Amino acid sequence: MIGIIGALDEEVKLVCDHLKNAKQLTKARSSFHTGKLGETEVTVVKCGVGKVNAAISTQILIDWFHCDRIIFGGVAGALIAGLNQGDVVISSHAVQFDIDLTAFGRRHGELAGQERLIEADKGLIEAGTDAFDELTETMSDPPALVVGTIVSGDSFISDPDTIKWLQREFGAACTEMEGGAVGYTCKINDIPFVIIRIISDSADDEAAGDFQSFLVKSSNLLFKLISGTVSRL
Ligand code: ADE
Repeated sequence: MIGIIGALDEEVKLVCDHLKNAKQLTKARSSFHTGKLGETEVTVVKCGVGKVNAAISTQILIDWFHCDRIIFGGVAGALIAGLNQGDVVISSHAVQFDIDLTAFGRRHGELAGQERLIEADKGLIEAGTDAFDELTETMSDPPALVVGTIVSGDSFISDPDTIKWLQREFGAACTEMEGGAVGYTCKINDIPFVIIRIISDSADDEAAGDFQSFLVKSSNLLFKLISGTVSRL
């Protein structure tokens, strides 16, 4: 069983709409939809915004739905020059940027006994990049793809100082609010994961408006990337 998570309705709606023989179960106030996406059995959930919501849904997917791989899909703010609205980031690593035990000599994002940057699964990354290549090969103006570090924290980022810090501290490609928690939860359960993000904004002072206006526009590409990834597993 593959678990598919998005934070918002727009990020999971098309996947839910395409499920065959769908069944629904509510847990911890979230609706989990199980069915076939193509030939593959999946469970899909909208977890809500933020790292706690993402961790709760990830653990439920693992414990209740016996998911053995997790894919998170959504939008994100770009942190590197040249990455624009509509471009795609697939996680090489995920990190919770707002974990701060620097007072105890640790680096930002580092917990005891845990890698600072949590590595995403090689096979899931490859399935995602192959899906991207197939999807974009016939486009006249295809989006860019970066495989890189995704940073997550419980804040919507819209200021230049934070962008600069996230770039320098983590070498990050994009910022969002869930992936690091999904990565952490998967890691401690030995479950492979990948985060697939479409850039909605540049985490600057126009980020909130750009994010709102792009959310629905991104949903078709996101659905195709997720279903293309799942079909390769
Ligand atoms: N998701 C999309 N854009 C974001 C941003 N700028 N900060 C945090 N999460 C986001």
